[in-house]
Amino acid sequence: MEAIVIENLEKIFPPDIHAVDQIRLQIAQGEVFGFLGPNGAGKTTMVKLLNGMLEPTAGSASIMGLDPLKDTTGIHAISGVLTEHAMMYDQMSAVENLQFFGEVFGLQKDETTKRALELLQTLQLDEAKDQKLATYSTGMRQRLSLARALIHKPKILFLDEPTSGLDPESAMAVNQLIQQLANQGVTIFLCTHQLRYAQELCTNYGLISQGKLLATGTLEQLRKQVYDGYTVRLKSSWLPDTLHYTKIADDEIEFQLEHEEDIAAIIRDIVMHGGNITHVSSRKMSLEEIYFALMKEAEGERK
Ligand SMILES: Nc1ncnc2c1ncn2[C@@H]1O[C@H](COP(=O)(O)OP(=O)(O)OP(=O)(O)O)[C@@H](O)[C@H]1O
Ligand SMILES: [Mg+2]
Repeated sequence: MEAIVIENLEKIFPPDIHAVDQIRLQIAQGEVFGFLGPNGAGKTTMVKLLNGMLEPTAGSASIMGLDPLKDTTGIHAISGVLTEHAMMYDQMSAVENLQFFGEVFGLQKDETTKRALELLQTLQLDEAKDQKLATYSTGMRQRLSLARALIHKPKILFLDEPTSGLDPESAMAVNQLIQQLANQGVTIFLCTHQLRYAQELCTNYGLISQGKLLATGTLEQLRKQVYDGYTVRLKSSWLPDTLHYTKIADDEIEFQLEHEEDIAAIIRDIVMHGGNITHVSSRKMSLEEIYFALMKEAEGERK
């Protein structure tokens, strides 16, 4: 079953900002969907539309078969949302806040407290668990917001920049928690600018720019749209003149190759000419490279 179905969704802010421009998209249950795009692309607007926090100008969406505008309560029961400004109470402690939100979801107090303490520990907030939120730093609040989003064990999670403003240790703890949830089969809609991390975690991607969906698919599918071959890096004292390469450093070059097997012939040629090779590696295009290529292409088309 599809977890998220988006049909020609559109949000226009006055005077004429097409924040989300006619987007169609389906995300299956259990996917970790990376929603990627530059600042102002429309990612947060999309998260808000999918959770009934904003009303679309046109089109529709459904989350596990529910309409974000009509079934807001139903959606809140099965989903967790982390956006920039999660509402929480400054005069209550972290544990009290989580207990409160657990109760809102109709959970038993004992069960909520147990889960709250587990989450606080995972998110490295156990030492500050009884502190009032008023004393929390931005990064601490951010992590508590994630705990709040997870308190009722949602089946589907919307995470808008979950690691923004976090120090490297906290970011790692959050990333590990997201990976665990993904392993447990939670559907995750993740907006992030951390492309290297997205490449490790996500099963599917959507690239958005100026409200428009530029591309969707798995890493392999996106790669096919840009370049599916290999980039080979070579450090050698001699190079064949037939090789078309880009210089990376004094004795280091990079070139593209359709088939990995063809590396052997190039190396043989160098060795036969007495060349000394100190490094060879080959890789396929990374998500980051694909992202930049597709964004550049879209920019070119707009001109
Ligand atoms: N409430 C609003 N009123 C008017 N314009 C808005 C509003 N919210 C967002 N926008 C505009 O809609 C566009 C998309 O904004 P959005 O916040 O969805 O981008 P984003 O992809 O989340 O960016 P970022 O990576 O910076 O978080 C931007 O041009 C933004 O200025
Ligand atoms: Mg945003």
